[in-house]
Amino acid sequence: MQINSFDEYQKVYKQSVEQPEEFWAGIADTFKWRKKWDKVLSWNFSEPNIKWFEGGKLNITENCLDRHLEKNGDKPAIIWESNDPEKDSVTLTYKILHEQVCRFANVLKKNHVKKGDRVCIYMPMVPELAVAVLACARIGAVHSVVFGGFSAKSIADRINDAQCKLVITADGAFRGAKQIQLKEVIDDALIGCPSVEKVIVLTHTRTPVSMLKGRDLWFEDEIKLVDTYCPAEEMDAEDMLFILYTSGSTGKPKGVVHTVGGYMVYAGYTFSTAFNYQPDEIFFCTADIGWITGHSYIVYGPLSQGATTLMFEGVPTYPTPARLWEVVDKHKVNILYTAPTAIRSLMGFGNEPVDGADLSSLRVLGSVGEPINEEAWHWFDEHVGKKKCPIVDTWWQTETGGLMISPIAFVTPTKPSYATLPLPGVQPVLVDEQGNIIEGNDVSGNLCIKFPWPGMLRTTYGDHERCKLTYFSTYENLYFTGDGCLRDADGYYKITGRVDDVINVSGHRIGTAEVENAINMHAGVVESAVVGYPHDVKGQGIYAFVIFPNPHSDADLSRKDILQTVTRVIGAIAKPDKILFVSGLPKTRSGKIMRRILRKIAEGDTSNLGDISTLQDPGVVDEIIDKARQL
Ligand code: WTA
Repeated sequence: MQINSFDEYQKVYKQSVEQPEEFWAGIADTFKWRKKWDKVLSWNFSEPNIKWFEGGKLNITENCLDRHLEKNGDKPAIIWESNDPEKDSVTLTYKILHEQVCRFANVLKKNHVKKGDRVCIYMPMVPELAVAVLACARIGAVHSVVFGGFSAKSIADRINDAQCKLVITADGAFRGAKQIQLKEVIDDALIGCPSVEKVIVLTHTRTPVSMLKGRDLWFEDEIKLVDTYCPAEEMDAEDMLFILYTSGSTGKPKGVVHTVGGYMVYAGYTFSTAFNYQPDEIFFCTADIGWITGHSYIVYGPLSQGATTLMFEGVPTYPTPARLWEVVDKHKVNILYTAPTAIRSLMGFGNEPVDGADLSSLRVLGSVGEPINEEAWHWFDEHVGKKKCPIVDTWWQTETGGLMISPIAFVTPTKPSYATLPLPGVQPVLVDEQGNIIEGNDVSGNLCIKFPWPGMLRTTYGDHERCKLTYFSTYENLYFTGDGCLRDADGYYKITGRVDDVINVSGHRIGTAEVENAINMHAGVVESAVVGYPHDVKGQGIYAFVIFPNPHSDADLSRKDILQTVTRVIGAIAKPDKILFVSGLPKTRSGKIMRRILRKIAEGDTSNLGDISTLQDPGVVDEIIDKARQL
C-alpha cells in the first residue's frame, strides 16, 4: 500500500481502527491466495488465540517468487555483496532465485524433510541463506535461523527445543577480518542433538571440515541431483512459517512463532508502505538474516513486493570505515535501512569516509533496533541523507513480525529520536503500572497494543503458557511490549527503552538472566548480577557484578576466564563489557537482588540510590560504589 499525504494517512488510519477487518482484507487481497480466507480475524488476548485469514490457502514463496516471474523474471531479486570488496557481487534474478529455491526445496525433500518438520539454519550472509529459508517455506518446513554469533550450546538448546530434523550450514563465514568456523560449531552442538538426521554443508570459506559419514552432505553435490522445479506446498494461513528465538527476562530464550498468511501480509504491507518503495529501486537492509529484521526486510517483505534486495555479507567498517558508503555507491542504493549502533560507530570515524562516497542515489533512510539518539539522527540526516531523505525510525520487535510505530516516508513529518505514529492497523496504548490506559498527550507509560495485527506472534514454540505469561498477562486484554514509551504533546511516540530485564546491545536483545546463568557456570563464581548501562556506540553495554571469592592475583585473567565462559555458553555477542568483582550484592531481606541500585552504580550515578536501609547488608553498597569507581 502506498500512502501519499498526511491527510490520507489520517483517513486510512481511522478506517483501519474502525473497520480493521475490511482494512486488512483489502491489503491481503493484493497477495496471491490459492483459496481466499473464510474469516479475516478471530481472536482473544486471554488465551491468547489469534487467527488471521482462516481457511485461506497459499504458499508464501508463490508470493515472493512465482508471481513475479511473468513480468519481472529478469529483474534482480537479490544482489549480493561480498565481505571482500575485491570479489564480484552476485545478482540473482527472480527467475534464477526461483530455480535455486526449487532445487534446494527438492534437496530437502530428498532428505526426507516434510511439511511441518523443523529445520535449523546456521549460515553466513550469502545468497544460499535466503535460498535455504525460502526452500523451507516452499515445502512447508519450519525454519529456525540461528545467528552466526551464537555458540554451540546456544544452537543445541534451540535445535532441541524445536526438535529440528535437519541443519543447513556452511564450512565457515567471513565477518570483517574474522573467520567463523560454522561447521565446527555445529559439530560441537550436534553432540547433544539426537533429533538431527542430516546436515547440509555449503562450501564458502574452504576451511577444512570434518564430514560425518551418513549424516553430512555437501550443498553443491546435493543440488546437482535434483529437478529444477518444485511445486509449492499448499499451506493454511495459520500454518507455522518459522520460529525465531529471542531473549526475554528469564534465562531461556523463547521460540517466537510466526504463521504463513498473516506474517506475509504484514511484512509485505509494512515494507511497501513505510519505505515508499518504488519499482526498480534497490533496497538495502544491513541486518543479518539471523534476526527478525533480516527475515522481514531482506527476504520476505521485499521479495513479496517484487523488490530488489541487497544482501551484504560484511560489516560496515571493513576493510575501511568507508565500506558501507562504498556499497551504497557501488550498487546505487535507494533505500538504506540500518541500525543506530552502526551509525554511531561510523560517526566515530569522522566525515571523510562518508563525504568521499557518492550517495546521491539515496532517497529514504531507515533506523531500527534501538532508540536512536538525536546526535546520531542528525548525523544520519545531514551526512548520509544530505537533508533530502526522510528517516523512518521504525519501532517493532521479533514478536510483532514487522514495523509497528514508524513514520511513512514523505508522509509523516519526522522528529529526531521519535518513532512518530502507528502505521495504519496498529493500535498502541500507554498504561500505568496498574494497567490503566493513559489517555491524552504529553504522557508516558508502558507500551501495549490493544488490537491484533496480522504479523503478531501466535505462540512461543512448545510452550503456549509462556507466551501468555510473557505478553498477555501483565495487563488484561493487552499485548505488552516490554518497552517504556512517551507520547508527546503532538501525540508522537518515542520509545524510551526496555522496562524489563532485557538489555539492547548494538540492537541485539540479551536477557540479563541469560548472561548471569552463563557467568555462574564458571567454577569460581558464586553469584552474579547483570545490568545494562549507557554505551556510546552499542547503545547499552553489559555490566556484570560478580561474586568471585578467589580471583587470580591478576584479576584480569579471571575476567578473561569469565568472558570465555560466556562465549562458550551463549556466544561472543553476550560478553560483558565490564566485570566488577564484589563480595556481596545488594539484596532485599527476602533475597531479591536490587537491580535498580546496580543500574545506578553502572551508570555512574550514585547521588540518589533511594532507601537502602532495608537491604540485608546495606554496607555492601558502599563497597560496590568504591570498587566501581576504580574500574
Ligand atoms: C527495541 C528488532 C527504539 C525495543 C526489530 C524493542 C527500538 C526491541 C526500536 C526489539 C526503535 C526496536 N526505537 N527501540 N526504532 N526498534 N527497538 O526483537 O526495545 O530484536 O522491544 O526486534 O528493540 O528487538 P528485536
